Amino acid sequence: MPENIIILKGSPRVNGNTATLANQVAAGAKESGAEVESFDLHNMNIQPCDACDTCQETGVCIINDDMQTLYPKIGQADSIVIASPVYWFTITAQMKLCIDRWYAFESEHVSQLKGKKIALVLPYGDTDLYTSGGINAVHTIEAMCRYLGIEFAGIVHGTAMDVGDAEKQPALLEDAFKLGQKLATYQ
Ligand SMILES: Cc1cc2nc3c(=O)[nH]c(=O)nc-3n(C[C@H](O)[C@H](O)[C@H](O)COP(=O)(O)O)c2cc1C
Repeated sequence: MPENIIILKGSPRVNGNTATLANQVAAGAKESGAEVESFDLHNMNIQPCDACDTCQETGVCIINDDMQTLYPKIGQADSIVIASPVYWFTITAQMKLCIDRWYAFESEHVSQLKGKKIALVLPYGDTDLYTSGGINAVHTIEAMCRYLGIEFAGIVHGTAMDVGDAEKQPALLEDAFKLGQKLATYQ
């Protein structure tokens, strides 16, 4: 069975740096035989978790929005790529809304994310992971993986401010392509 990879993109710029790097991850993964599906969260209707806790009883979220499309896709994926620009020193609100809703995957009895891998794609405007605040996103995703007992499979990050900046950086594009290959051939 080919590896099944879902890429969640959290930028409002559909052709921005996040998309450029996410497309490279997809290209690397597909070249290595994986099946890849990508979603632009900004164009989806994703409501905030309202802490009703129904999912903790039933394993199912009752909010009727586009997460109902994503839940089975995420649930069936071997790897989930979180592709988000750094906004105000962490992931974007679009991405956070989506991740908060993963609460439904984790009840007292069932962990539907077990065995999956998570990877992070993180462009930012500032010079490095620390000044940009990208490090906060890394800490968030690392902590999440630790809590869930799932593997943090890799990160691609770099400075890219304006649309087109990532495209001008062969080393960054190559890193993203290689991350896709790695996810596709994970042991
Ligand atoms: C509202 C907003 C907040 C931002 N906050 C940060 C930040 O905290 N640190 C940083 O390095 N860059 C920040 N940036 C720059 C973006 O991370 C950068 O432009 C990135 O390439 C955007 O990705 P995109 O092209 O996929 O939209 C911010 C940009 C916007 C629009």
